[in-house]
Amino acid sequence: MPYTPQPDRYQSMEYRRCGNSGLKLPALSLGLWHNFGHVDVQENARKILHLAFDRGITHFDLANNYGPPAGSAEENFGRILREDFHGYRDQLIISSKAGYYMWDGPYGEWGSKKYLVSSLDQSLKRMGLEYVDIFYHHRPDPDTPLEETMRTLDLFVGQGKALYVGLSNYQPEEASRAIRILNDLGTPCLIHQPKYSMFERWVENGLLDLLEQQGVGCIPFSPLAQGMLTNKYLNGIPEDSRAAKSDGFLQKDDLTDDKLNKIRQLNGVAKSRGQSLAQMALAWLLKDPRITSVLIGASKPEQLADSLKCLNNKDFSQEELTHIENILQ
Ligand SMILES: NC(=O)c1ccc[n+]([C@@H]2O[C@H](COP(=O)([O-])OP(=O)(O)OC[C@H]3O[C@@H](n4cnc5c(N)ncnc54)[C@H](OP(=O)(O)O)[C@@H]3O)[C@@H](O)[C@H]2O)c1
Repeated sequence: MPYTPQPDRYQSMEYRRCGNSGLKLPALSLGLWHNFGHVDVQENARKILHLAFDRGITHFDLANNYGPPAGSAEENFGRILREDFHGYRDQLIISSKAGYYMWDGPYGEWGSKKYLVSSLDQSLKRMGLEYVDIFYHHRPDPDTPLEETMRTLDLFVGQGKALYVGLSNYQPEEASRAIRILNDLGTPCLIHQPKYSMFERWVENGLLDLLEQQGVGCIPFSPLAQGMLTNKYLNGIPEDSRAAKSDGFLQKDDLTDDKLNKIRQLNGVAKSRGQSLAQMALAWLLKDPRITSVLIGASKPEQLADSLKCLNNKDFSQEELTHIENILQ
């Protein structure tokens, strides 16, 4: 049966304006870092994408190196786009990035024009696209002049290979310089993609304020701390979890006694709110209007369905917030 998206898909999702731009993003976006590579089950990946779009998730986040093997998430996404989403390109926001290691030699990572131009061309080819909606510089490069990297982002917009550009993993000071250069070039920075969750709060020390002042959106990644902020590790490490996988980025050692103790207590707060811990962790980020969208991952459609329900309760009482802060101390 060919896939037909749910006609009511835009009714249950909230869309938030991205900084000062004209672009709106869904409160939840889906990332393809894990679970969409050649090592993964393709029918499962397809089901997750169908459910996401059926529930109003219009934004799909990729990068050159997602897989494994690197590049295969873009290839698989491109194939599913052609097979199932034909005719829907104008309803999708597709992002890609370059910055991390992708191929051997001096031109296969970081932020030179040489690397970024080749990488975006490869990404477009793998996905079968003429353009990406958002292209990110994936991480700051300590050696390449920031002007060169930002000029390359500006070039992509001029060429029509990217509609908007963004930064990822930039600290406030370097983000501020990059935003200024992009403004001077006439290609404003659309969005910043930092790691942000209840367990990872560096963005609260200056980055969120900067983005708000500059009219730049914010899309936190790993909002569930790669699955730790869910109920899945409460009774050990399930065999099919990211922490159990050799190719996953979450290590068993990350699940310390201190973390597990916090997770248990947070789970108690979530229960008292009538939510799963995953739903509460996402709602906790979305309570801040500076957050444009929260970028989640999912290894099963059921997880995505669970996470989507965070939208039903995004309000926190002062008591709940204080209780959560005390647990996270
Ligand atoms: N810019 C960057 O440098 C950067 C870096 C990392 C990620 N990202 C982006 O951010 C996206 C999300 O990152 P992430 O995958 O680490 O996000 P995450 O949402 O923190 O973690 C996703 C994982 O949590 C588990 N999970 C999700 N929903 C669940 C639920 N409702 N109940 C129980 N478990 C649940 C699953 O783990 P199991 O696999 O164990 O089932 C899932 O794979 C990536 O795909 C990528 O697009 C960007």
